[in-house]
Amino acid sequence: MGIFIKVKHWFQKANETDGILDVSSEQVKLQVNIIDLTEYDLKLINILVRQSNPRSRELLMPFIKILQVPELKGIITVHSTVGRLRKTLITHMLSLFNGVIDDDFVKLRTKVAKTHYRIGLQPRWYSSGFQNVKNHLQRIVFEQTKNEDEQRALISAIG
Ligand code: HEM
Repeated sequence: MGIFIKVKHWFQKANETDGILDVSSEQVKLQVNIIDLTEYDLKLINILVRQSNPRSRELLMPFIKILQVPELKGIITVHSTVGRLRKTLITHMLSLFNGVIDDDFVKLRTKVAKTHYRIGLQPRWYSSGFQNVKNHLQRIVFEQTKNEDEQRALISAIG
């Protein structure tokens, strides 16, 4: 008698996951359209991050690297502490990947942008942090998928 192990593939898992893309701002709709972001992409990202949950704290590794920039260390010392910022970032990073982009999501992003502007954080450091997160997620995709179609879909969803 054979033993059957049911392996669910990423596409199948994504179909069983929530993905909501519902924004009212015309400007944000245009941005979403230009980068070809779909609800299905949100499902894929959601399942990828949830599935690799034990490693989700690693999503913060890029910041540990970035926070070594002397200018940034200075900003943190004045406005916060590394411990507090780390906590804020963990909660925030996980919420970024929960498969929902709606008006609340946009409102929160705007608040974060205003906070960073207020404390004088230059956009290049914010983008560098995200580029690093992207690199990290891409590594997870290549480690955890064998199927080329799934790799292509996941890498494109990460953007
Ligand atoms: C991908 C990059 C980043 C994300 C997603 C992020 C996210 C956030 C969030 C969610 C907040 C809270 C905003 C609020 O409630 O008003 C915040 C605040 C803050 N961020 Fe960032 N941040 C990023 C990069 C950085 C970097 C590189 C620095 C380095 C100086 C930094 C310094 C701060 C500080 C000092 C605060 C205010 C105090 C605090 O909450 O501890 N952030 N950030």
